[in-house]
Amino acid sequence: MRIDVLTIFPQYLAPLELSLIGKAQRDGLLDVRVHDLREFAHDRHRTVDDTPYGGGAGMVMKPEPWAAALDALVAPAKGSAVAVASASASATPLLIVPGPAGRPFTQAFAAELATRPWLAFACGRYEGIDERVYEYAADDLGLRVEVVSLGDYVLNGGEVAVLAMVEAIARLVPGVVGNAESLVEESHSDGLLEYPVYTKPASWRGRDVPPVLLGGDHGRIAAWRRERSIERTVARRPDLLPAAALTGLPSDDVEG
Ligand code: ADE
Repeated sequence: MRIDVLTIFPQYLAPLELSLIGKAQRDGLLDVRVHDLREFAHDRHRTVDDTPYGGGAGMVMKPEPWAAALDALVAPAKGSAVAVASASASATPLLIVPGPAGRPFTQAFAAELATRPWLAFACGRYEGIDERVYEYAADDLGLRVEVVSLGDYVLNGGEVAVLAMVEAIARLVPGVVGNAESLVEESHSDGLLEYPVYTKPASWRGRDVPPVLLGGDHGRIAAWRRERSIERTVARRPDLLPAAALTGLPSDDVEG
């Protein structure tokens, strides 16, 4: 999978060199390319923002640098830094713009994005990007554009959201996580929160691991884990319950 990130703070994305995502890049499973938006701003000060029409606080990102960067990504101009990086890619990327006004980022959406060969992330700063950039990307460049939110809170810019989204997406790309089984039972994979987990020692500071986990009866262990998942989801995220697959609820046992 190829991932391009456009940002005015390329160093913010340095953690993508680390850990599983870094290894996946070295293994050739991921091809992450971070681009400095200011390279596409051509005035003396490499300006990327200006005051908002209509007034109000803060600054808005100017359309020209964004259009130039997207042009270079999609239809590389000869000799540009992005052109060299893009030369081998044929299709167009799905353009993701992180922002608090976007569609919620979920595990299901991460799984859908993980099947894509090419994603591009456009990191906004300040009060956001001039709205015409979205229209240009969709209408003139033919890109599917998705504004995506991590949650109902406001970050200073898209970079931290990109780190989170790329990690959630990349770990679902086959081969990135060594033990694929570990993806199956984690939180949100079945719409529920994950059950509590324990390791050795069996007794620690007066607290014992639940005995069912020591018994080796895989059926009982699976049933216990499902009950704990449901309990935890009821307590912490009741909003998830209507959509979760609720076969095997404890009450199902009682009612047969
Ligand atoms: N940028 C600013 N706030 C954000 C959020 N909640 N999610 C994604 N990107 C953002």
